[in-house]
Amino acid sequence: MVSYSFPLFFSLCLITLSQLFSLAISSPDQILLSKKKISHNQIPTPPLPILPLPTFSQLKWQQREVIMFLHFGVNTFTDSEWGTGHENPAIFNPIGLDATQWAKTAADAGISLMILTAKHHDGFCLWPSKYTDHSVVESSWKNGHGDVVQELVNAAKDYGIDVGLYLSPWDRHDSRYGYDLAYNEYYLAQLQELLSNYGSVREIWFDGAKGKNAPNMSYYFDDWMAMVKQLQSSINIFSDAGPDVRWVGNENGFAGTTSWSTINRTSLSIGNASIVEYLSTGDPYGRDWLPAECDVSIRNGWFWHKSESPKNLTQLLEIYYNSVGRNCLLLFNVPPNTTGLISQVDVQRLKEFRSAIDTIFSINLAEKCDINSSSQRGGKNGGFGPENVIDSDHLWTYWAPSDGKKNEHWIEFRSNDQGLRFNVIRIQEAIGLGQRIKQHEIYVDDECVAKGTTVGYKRLHRLEKGVVHGQIVRIRIKESRGVPLISSIGLHFDPFWHPHAQLSIQEVAGPNNTQMHHPKEP
Ligand SMILES: *[C@@H]1O[C@H](CO)[C@@H](O)[C@H](O)[C@H]1NC(C)=O
Ligand SMILES: *[C@@H]1O[C@H](CO)[C@@H](O)[C@H](O)[C@H]1NC(C)=O
Ligand SMILES: *[C@@H]1O[C@H](CO)[C@@H](O)[C@H](O)[C@H]1NC(C)=O
Ligand SMILES: *[C@@H]1O[C@H](CO)[C@@H](O)[C@H](O)[C@H]1NC(C)=O
Ligand SMILES: *[C@@H]1O[C@H](CO)[C@@H](O)[C@H](O)[C@H]1NC(C)=O
Ligand SMILES: *[C@@H]1O[C@H](CO)[C@@H](O)[C@H](O)[C@H]1NC(C)=O
Ligand SMILES: *[C@@H]1O[C@H](CO)[C@@H](O)[C@H](O)[C@H]1NC(C)=O
Repeated sequence: MVSYSFPLFFSLCLITLSQLFSLAISSPDQILLSKKKISHNQIPTPPLPILPLPTFSQLKWQQREVIMFLHFGVNTFTDSEWGTGHENPAIFNPIGLDATQWAKTAADAGISLMILTAKHHDGFCLWPSKYTDHSVVESSWKNGHGDVVQELVNAAKDYGIDVGLYLSPWDRHDSRYGYDLAYNEYYLAQLQELLSNYGSVREIWFDGAKGKNAPNMSYYFDDWMAMVKQLQSSINIFSDAGPDVRWVGNENGFAGTTSWSTINRTSLSIGNASIVEYLSTGDPYGRDWLPAECDVSIRNGWFWHKSESPKNLTQLLEIYYNSVGRNCLLLFNVPPNTTGLISQVDVQRLKEFRSAIDTIFSINLAEKCDINSSSQRGGKNGGFGPENVIDSDHLWTYWAPSDGKKNEHWIEFRSNDQGLRFNVIRIQEAIGLGQRIKQHEIYVDDECVAKGTTVGYKRLHRLEKGVVHGQIVRIRIKESRGVPLISSIGLHFDPFWHPHAQLSIQEVAGPNNTQMHHPKEP
């Protein structure tokens, strides 16, 4: 005879009672479902996301990695960075302008979005706005019949490249500037022209740049942003405060080593110098998904100057690792010259840059390794195994450890022949389900070779000791929000990387780095 101890007997009764109770309140469907659970092995589902999440357009933006800015206008012809607003429009005469050369340069560099300064602080419009005569209409170019925005749109289309626009809030030419109502109406009228007449616009850029002695006035940002979203459903709005993409807080192309795509928008405002640190790191507790964009010029200035030349390849790679390699987008400014073409030296440098990136990342030594992990969601063949980190999908297939495992998670690559020789490690999170990793470490044969905090869409570590040789590489996730979900890992060899020759921010930014889009006059 089986004898039950009293507490056990009591609890068994309770279980039976509660099952009866749940049967009583379950619908027939629910009963079927719970029977099915018992009788079949169900396919493991994806884990729940951790909010906030990127929107469709933000995800698409993030995958571009490198985009292009084109600073072009009257400043190109006056050899200046900030125009006065008193320029004679006749000086604008780029006789050889060929936007297909711009688009080809971008396409050859693997760039899928080009942003043009439709109007800079000088107020001169690169399209024939009907609300001002300070535009291409009054210029010598094409006898006043030109439209640079249209030429860019046409050329970009031929190369499958998307278009973005910058419309400077600060306008040193228009007499309405300084009068809140009149100027905001003027600005909105121009926004409507640009966003209604040129097809799809994927990014719009707002900044708070303004000279110290400029008239005081308020911009109606809420009205502007609402109008933008109404006219362009898939657009991303860039500004210091989003709502879709945030400024990284400097113009050197260096994001923070900790770089969250999440932040609190309520702590941000446009043109506020006291938030640059917060902009650079983001916020692990942030309520809003607002990833950072790093704007930096390929030259010292933002507009073309005869006296300047592009940064060298070492500088460009430093920028790439510190922006794209830190969960950000790299917005490279490449200014057309007075002929209306991107200088051949810049074209050449961008080609070298793309070819270097392809050389570094086209071979992934991890692909030839045996891969193991601390655990996997749904067990073997559950669909979330560590092998997902070496497939070609860097977003929607991923390694997921099992839930509930409180211990740290790890993934390991074991060479099955002569060993691994590499100096770069790439880690990517499945950000479609939220940014999670807070602390990670990388070991080669039990020796720690790199560690860091956030990962996000892409984290690149160039090894400080240079090339390492080893058999086993283990990535340990020390801390994360929920379980970490890793979509891709790469072990790469970068022939351009020499740790002793690493450049400082100053060496990359140059002696006269001008912060064009922030309250610091060049
Ligand atoms: C600028 O104008 C705003 C209102 O439009 C006002 O609140 C602010 O005090 C003014 N600042 C200066 C420096 O005049
Ligand atoms: C700048 O940001 C800080 C931090 O959010 C805020 O306290 C301050 O009021 C902001 N200043 C302006 C002028 O918006
Ligand atoms: C951002 O918001 C979250 C949630 O309200 C809060 O916990 C966190 O402290 C905020 N961050 C900052 C820097 O205020
Ligand atoms: C602009 O760049 C193009 C292409 O390299 C070149 O042919 C042209 O001479 C340049 N114009 C000036 C003014 O340097
Ligand atoms: C893979 O890791 C698990 C622990 O998660 C361990 O039990 C197993 O032995 C490892 N397999 C190999 C082939 O190393
Ligand atoms: C690139 O420029 C930096 C900064 O001027 C310099 O230190 C470095 O030696 C240059 N590298 C090459 C390969 O020219
Ligand atoms: C830096 O700026 C100063 C002052 O505007 C100028 O005289 C100098 O030529 C600039 N140097 C470079 C390398 O651009």
